[in-house]
Amino acid sequence: MEILRTCAELREWSRYERNDGGNTIGLVPTMGALHQGHASLIRASRASVGFTAVSIFVNPTQFGPNEDFARYPRSFDADCALAKAEGADVIFAPSVDEMYPAGGAMSIEIEGLSHRLDGKSRPGHFRGVATVVAKLLIASEADRAFFGQKDAAQVAVLRRLAADLRVATEIVVCPIVRDPDGLALSSRNVYLSTEERLSALALSRAIRNAEAQFTAGERRAEALLTAARSILAAEPGVRVDYVELVDWATLLPVESAAPGSLLAMAAWVGTTRLIDNAVLIPA
Ligand code: PAJ
Repeated sequence: MEILRTCAELREWSRYERNDGGNTIGLVPTMGALHQGHASLIRASRASVGFTAVSIFVNPTQFGPNEDFARYPRSFDADCALAKAEGADVIFAPSVDEMYPAGGAMSIEIEGLSHRLDGKSRPGHFRGVATVVAKLLIASEADRAFFGQKDAAQVAVLRRLAADLRVATEIVVCPIVRDPDGLALSSRNVYLSTEERLSALALSRAIRNAEAQFTAGERRAEALLTAARSILAAEPGVRVDYVELVDWATLLPVESAAPGSLLAMAAWVGTTRLIDNAVLIPA
C-alpha cells in the first residue's frame, strides 16, 4: 500500500484511479491512532466506492494551546497495517508544512456553528477542523468522504462546509462504534486508567437512558437533560462539560425532541475529555 506525502501526489493518484469517471474515490480523514471506529469508516468507503484513501494527519490547528497535541497518540506503522487489512488503497500522511505552507494565511470559519457544543469549550477547534478538511477534500477530489457520528458537532460543521463550498464530495456519516461495555471508541481512551475507564461508562449509560426515555415517549428536553445530567453527576470521576439537546443541523438547543434532534455530551474523566451522543430520531 502506497504512502503519499504531498497534496499533489494525492490529487494525481485520485485522478489516475478515477480513470475518466470510470471509478469513484473515497476519503477517510483521520488523525491516526486507528481503532475499530476508524476501521468502520474504511469498510463503509470500500463498500461504496472503487478506491479508498485514508489520511493520517494530527492536525495542529484544531488543538488549543493547553490541549494534547504533543502527547496525542501516534502509531503510524500499526495504523498503516490496520488500513491495509481493511482494504485501503493508499495512505495520505502529509507533513505539517505540506498542509500549512509557510506564509499560509487562510482558514475557514463557519459562523455560529463553529462556536457551539465542542466549539464553545474548545475555541478555534472547528476552524482547524474545517480548514484541514477543506484542504483534504480539495486535494483528494473525493466523490465521498466518510465521518463518524461519534463527532456529531464536527459532522454538522462539515456538512455546512460542504454545502457552502458546493463541493462535489458527498459527506457520509457512519454510526458510533462502541466497546462491548458501551464506551464509544476514541483514540483518547488510551489515556484512561482502569478506574477512569469505569467512570467513563457513565457517558454511554446516560446516552442509553435518554434513548430509553425517548422510546418510552418522553420528548421534553428538560426531562431528558435532567436525567442525563443526574447519571453523570452520580459518577464522582466525571466532570461535565456540556449536556445539550440540539438540532443536529444548527446545533441550537431545542425545547422538545423532534426528528433530527441530537443529545450530545462532553465530560472530563481525569484529564481526558470524552464525548458521546445519540440522534434520537433520524431527520
Ligand atoms: P479522528 O478523531 O481520528 O477521527 C477520524 C474519524 O473517525 C472521524 O470522522 C470520527 O468521527 C471517526 N470516529 C472516531 N471514533 C469513532 C467511533 N467510535 N465510531 C465511529 N466513528 C468514529 O475527527 C478527526 O480525527 C479529525 O477532526 C479530522 C476529521 C480527521 C480532521 O482533522
